[in-house]
Amino acid sequence: MQKLVLLTLCNFLLFHQPTCADEDSHTYIDGEDVLLWMNTVGPYHNRQETYEYFRLPFCQGSKVSKIDRHHENLGDALQGVELKHSGLDIRFKENVGLTQYCTIELDQKKFESFVYAVKNHYWYQMYMDDLPIWGIVGEADENGEDYYMWTHKKLEIGYNTDQIVDINLTSEKKVKLVPNMKIQLTYEVVWKESTIEFRDRYEKYLDPSFFQHRIHWFSIFNSFMMVIFLVGLVSMILMRTLRKDYARYSKDDDLDDMERDLGDEYGWKQIHGDVFRPAPNPLLFSALVGSGAHVLSAALAVVLIVMVGDLYTERGTVVSTAVFVFAAISPINGYVGGALYARMGGRAWIKEMVVSALLIPGLISSTAFFVNFIAMYYHASRAIPFGTMVAMLCIILFVILPLSLIGTILGRNISGGSSPPCRVNAVPRPIPSKRWFMEPSVIACCGGILPFGSIFIEMYFIFTSFWAYKIYYVYGFTLLVLVILAIVTVCVTIVCTYFLLNAEDYRWQWTSFLAASSTAVYVYMYSFYYFFFKTKMYGLFQTTYYFGYMAVFSIGLGLMCGSLGFLGTSMFVHKIYTYVKID
Ligand SMILES: *[C@@H]1O[C@H](CO)[C@@H](O)[C@H](O)[C@H]1NC(C)=O
Repeated sequence: MQKLVLLTLCNFLLFHQPTCADEDSHTYIDGEDVLLWMNTVGPYHNRQETYEYFRLPFCQGSKVSKIDRHHENLGDALQGVELKHSGLDIRFKENVGLTQYCTIELDQKKFESFVYAVKNHYWYQMYMDDLPIWGIVGEADENGEDYYMWTHKKLEIGYNTDQIVDINLTSEKKVKLVPNMKIQLTYEVVWKESTIEFRDRYEKYLDPSFFQHRIHWFSIFNSFMMVIFLVGLVSMILMRTLRKDYARYSKDDDLDDMERDLGDEYGWKQIHGDVFRPAPNPLLFSALVGSGAHVLSAALAVVLIVMVGDLYTERGTVVSTAVFVFAAISPINGYVGGALYARMGGRAWIKEMVVSALLIPGLISSTAFFVNFIAMYYHASRAIPFGTMVAMLCIILFVILPLSLIGTILGRNISGGSSPPCRVNAVPRPIPSKRWFMEPSVIACCGGILPFGSIFIEMYFIFTSFWAYKIYYVYGFTLLVLVILAIVTVCVTIVCTYFLLNAEDYRWQWTSFLAASSTAVYVYMYSFYYFFFKTKMYGLFQTTYYFGYMAVFSIGLGLMCGSLGFLGTSMFVHKIYTYVKID
């Protein structure tokens, strides 16, 4: 555990520099030991329900390695990577003929375990030189009475000078499972010269025919058209209406008081004395907006870093990067939330800061904690080790909180004091009754439809790569979709807010936040569709895991969109009321 914390810290400080195992240099001299690591085994359809490989009564080869298990980084520990040495004797560029490496004595209990595994389409994952290798445990015959297990592993390893660039595993020799038999496990290694470059060796795991599909390009194009249309619409409506309004209001100045009193004054200008009234529940509101800004900036930074660094190839690195970036970027949370809270006249700013800083980590931790209980019950390898939990707690307490504090202090002092363009009246104005579709609750529900429409195809790709183990690598698309989502969200909330203010309803802060964040409700609903129609997941663990983490994802997305919607609208509102002459 100490080693893990140390490695984690070391990883944080060095930002994923190679640790000390010899396979980290990825170069070998002839005859040097090459380690084959057994990772996990689990049902093919439940990709997140994984168990340590030796939970199934496989046997281990006799070769001992200096290191037995390793979690290399935080991402590994969080994703349930459990490497254990296979015990196979493999040396660089030395072929091994068919060799038996161990024998399983199949007593009744082991027999039942294997039959269960074969029945549930178990497959296993191994790693060699950080390249993943997958194989299936066995097969049932057509009528499902006899179960067979693959007993021979043929490893074909491609090398390019002193590096491993390609590995193929072929499972051979099907043996029918019968209680009390002996199963001999064998392996074979064939080394082949390969022309693949070392830096291209992950390419075969990527799936361009899936990700670069016409649909994907088409959806981006589609969303892009929508953006142009929306931006055009917003600017057209607003320019025309606002110009008319301004014209009317400035004409008013030339008329005498009598005429002005008779004039048909209505619309957004009427509520200038209430529009900057602090939102109800300012503490919660600022915390939500601050967290949303945090998620947004973290998402942008992670996508950019992963895109530039091609980090998706290294196991666990994207997760480690995300944790690191999220923690490092916490001042933004404090700054946005703290400044907003100060502008709304809140006094309990420390409380606001703590709520804001702990909102997302708390949400994720409680979900993880809950899922962990079930994982522990199942003895799944997804159960997060205690050391990792402590490390995460340390990050929250000693990195996220202090950085948020700095951000909050800066936010309060730099932009917390600015006063709104219009003074707030002492007595709130009554809100006139209006048609049902102008009610804030209705606006909040409908606001998410267009933004959801602009991202749901990308959601399919992201879900598929996460839940079906395709490696997601098209981060350029993600960036584009994030930008499109941001523009659509801001445009939609501005239009919604404009209509709301025109109906002389000044409750725009929560409305704009909720209208934008309702996108996430649609995404969560979509995840139900995805679960039932696009995957074959089953079982308590996988279902809890899926819906738990989908909820976290949706809430994060909701905060992000809500914050964007509110901040965009807030700029808009400040802008229009700045030019209004208040008599
Ligand atoms: C692995 O399989 C692929 C596709 O069948 C083949 O192109 C490649 O040469 C194989 N690599 C090795 C090292 O055998």
